[in-house]
Amino acid sequence: MRIPEELAEWGKKRIEPYSVEGFVYGGGPENPALMLVGEAPGETEIHNGIPFSGRAGKELMKFLERAGLKREEVYITSAVRSRPYKWREKTERSGEIIQRKYNRTPNEKEIMAHAPILDWEIEHVNPKIIMTLGNIGLRRLAGKDKKIADIHGQLLKQPVRCCQKDGTYSWTEKDYLLFPTYHPASIFYNRSLLETIHRDFDQLAKYIKEMHDS
Ligand code: URA
Repeated sequence: MRIPEELAEWGKKRIEPYSVEGFVYGGGPENPALMLVGEAPGETEIHNGIPFSGRAGKELMKFLERAGLKREEVYITSAVRSRPYKWREKTERSGEIIQRKYNRTPNEKEIMAHAPILDWEIEHVNPKIIMTLGNIGLRRLAGKDKKIADIHGQLLKQPVRCCQKDGTYSWTEKDYLLFPTYHPASIFYNRSLLETIHRDFDQLAKYIKEMHDS
């Protein structure tokens, strides 16, 4: 399923003032066992339009496989749907210095600009479990004080943050099942997180099986 085109256009307009490029739609089935909420697309994703299709995505697909899930069974989205970038100098092999765009973490304003999109997806996709990947997705939904290191691998039943017309967040009336884990790209910087993420996905697979069997 896909968000309505008017909502996508509104999201593009809201994020226009910031240093971002492209727009990648979230995608997957309605009523899935799992929705994945990442951070923001990177360079690969804005070129091919497929969320988590770059280097981090390859790791994510291995984790899903470990949990017995296929990409097509899962709804995949992120807090921000455009690629936040910063310009930096890069020295080419020839010694020439060029300006290049690098990925960066989305800021609060960018996350708010695309908040109505994620709100819509959560309401209409209706996943059984929402798995946040990294601190950005976790804090967007569970609040700014949350830390992935403290609560990864736990199933939390609680309201999630949703945006209001005045540009602030409130909480949903409904409870959702949140399951935070680390962003798959975290293993590129800290290899020791791989085992932790494996354990989290094993735990997730157990919860999904229990829900399926009950
Ligand atoms: N990281 C994300 O959070 N989303 C993507 O689509 C790619 C990398």
